[in-house]
Amino acid sequence: MNFKNNKLYIENIEATKIARKFGTPSYCYSLNRLKNNIRNFKNNFKSIKPLICFSVKSNSNLQILKEIKKSAMGADVVSKGELIIALKAGIHPKKIVFSGIGKTFDEIKFAIEKNILLINAESESEIKEIEKIAKTKKKKINIGLRLNPNIDAKTLKKISTGKNEDKFGVVESNFLKILKKFRDSKYLYIKCLSIHIGSQIIDYRPYAKMINIVQNTIKKSKHKFDFVDLGGGMGIKYNNKSKPLNYKKYNLIIKKFLKKNNVKIIFEPGRSIIGDTAVLLTKIIYIKAIKKKNFIILDAAMNDLIRPALYGAKHQIIPLKRNNKIINKIHDFVGPICESTDKFLSLKKYQKLNEKEILGICDVGAYGMVLSSNYNLRTKASEIMVNKSSLRVILKRQKLNNII
Ligand SMILES: Cc1ncc(COP(=O)(O)O)c(C=O)c1O
Repeated sequence: MNFKNNKLYIENIEATKIARKFGTPSYCYSLNRLKNNIRNFKNNFKSIKPLICFSVKSNSNLQILKEIKKSAMGADVVSKGELIIALKAGIHPKKIVFSGIGKTFDEIKFAIEKNILLINAESESEIKEIEKIAKTKKKKINIGLRLNPNIDAKTLKKISTGKNEDKFGVVESNFLKILKKFRDSKYLYIKCLSIHIGSQIIDYRPYAKMINIVQNTIKKSKHKFDFVDLGGGMGIKYNNKSKPLNYKKYNLIIKKFLKKNNVKIIFEPGRSIIGDTAVLLTKIIYIKAIKKKNFIILDAAMNDLIRPALYGAKHQIIPLKRNNKIINKIHDFVGPICESTDKFLSLKKYQKLNEKEILGICDVGAYGMVLSSNYNLRTKASEIMVNKSSLRVILKRQKLNNII
């Protein structure tokens, strides 16, 4: 995305033209940015030769997953639906890991039938269920066990997953007990230690702590793991003041760890691959001025992008046409949904805006469309892929007829 003559372009196409052609709200992705992010991620970690499994929960658009497949990445899935779409995109089963605390009988059976690389279990009950199904299939299954390291990932409270009070994984004492108990299972190989401490982590230090704990746990366990799955969580830059995670520092820490441990590293990045590839184009329906502020009422709402309402996340909002008439008054950018939390951002000042004008909500590629809903019986937005000078609808706008 860049401005030319004060007009916003996504790759070579003026964003206003995209909005006019496909309507609003529309998620609009840059293929070039996606490819750059993948290249950048791979380059930074190339010395440790990881298996990179894209976290499908962050974005499950089939066409995007086909791009992931083209780049030789694998997938991290958390449901049967995500496993099916990853396979449909052509991702090889031996590059797929299945995470999540509540996999059902049906989901485990399906994953076993598809011969995926690893089912990453999160409790003893789940392991027993996997063992039971493996026995009926007369197969020996590769699984992982997720460690809860009791670490504060120093990110938004609602996207932290690595503390003891969080529902994910098992604490070290249990981890060691479970390893012992299932070591000689006829139907399971515990091949992987998996861990994921949270999302949007921009400080490398929680990762350093995490690796330290992984190292200690492996040592105590005396177990031979083939894989260590470090999860995702790498943070991105959502505004000019913040910095993304320093991959180089993270890579160095892992390199040191690998000197003592002969394992294959797995990553499950979502946001760092897809987060900054998309902008949500939205039209101003009305501007309502009260004494203290201007309400900029958009045609996108919390059903299209729930991160601000759900996590207090802040996404920058940019005009598609810049002007230099600054209005020094609070601007609340809100959606039309009947909830006070249907608010994207509040800014102290903004350029002069007009009704019917189009704006872009930035960095919405991850946990954007996937978290959208039909709340207020609103249809879901369309998704558009920009590739240099060409445009492609990668998901059609939902029609009211299909949801009523
Ligand atoms: C187990 C697991 N792996 C990977 C991810 C992807 O995280 P991110 O999109 O922050 O990279 C998540 C997201 O919360 C997760 O729960």
